[in-house]
Amino acid sequence: AFMNELRGFKDLEQQVKQRLQLDHVVIVPGDSDELSWVKQEMGKACVRYMKGILRSDDTVAVTGGGTIAAVAEMMTPLEQAGNCLFVPARGGLGEQMENQANTICAEMAKKANGTYRLLYVPDPLSEESYQTIIEEPSIKEVLTIIRGAGVVVHGIGDATTMAERRKTPQEVIDTIQEGKAVGEAFGYYFNEEGSIVHKVRTVGIQLEDLQHTNCVIAVAGGKSKAKAISSYFNLGQSNVLITDESAAKELIKGS
Ligand code: BG6
Repeated sequence: AFMNELRGFKDLEQQVKQRLQLDHVVIVPGDSDELSWVKQEMGKACVRYMKGILRSDDTVAVTGGGTIAAVAEMMTPLEQAGNCLFVPARGGLGEQMENQANTICAEMAKKANGTYRLLYVPDPLSEESYQTIIEEPSIKEVLTIIRGAGVVVHGIGDATTMAERRKTPQEVIDTIQEGKAVGEAFGYYFNEEGSIVHKVRTVGIQLEDLQHTNCVIAVAGGKSKAKAISSYFNLGQSNVLITDESAAKELIKGS
């Protein structure tokens, strides 16, 4: 039965890979909506994948969120890749401390025996402050490092859940709902077709930057995130997806 299960996952991984046009898919058993250890299993799978690709002195940009926090929680020293530098992917997105990219980045770096640089920018930013802040030398330096990261590890969220979790003003929530946004990643909100409905104005990695990144790893699971995951991949910006059984089964429905 165990071998069947393993085989079954290989098939499922293959189907999701084709469906979303990815280079690589890893599926862990279960549903992270229901059981929190499934999120930790995704975290472990992500750490394993990272260990396979990271080289000494690589720069890794990470987003916030509970799923990437689980990757940080599961991180262990990177023996084959010394001196890796961890940075947050983007500036503040209105998240609570434990969900912020800065917090997660520092924890991951410590557990990996790497180093980190943080980004201190207030959010939300007015256009005027944004233009001033990106010219600030200390910010500019970190931003150059971030935008040149070779590896990006990010979460994907359900649009409404994310808008509510962040301190999103009502008029923005209206835009997100009117635009029928279903998914969110990096502070961008997408509709089912993958078009951008709204973008949180902050510094750091922009969606276009991902085209020049060696490896972009998305980590997201749970049946409730299936729509969000497929909306994000309609833009086709990540190479790798680490997910769970429940999201995977939902993703291949109707194919
Ligand atoms: C946020 C990321 O912090 O976490 C988002 O910036 C992502 O891009 C979200 O969608 C996912 O959160 P969680 O808690 O569902 O992993």
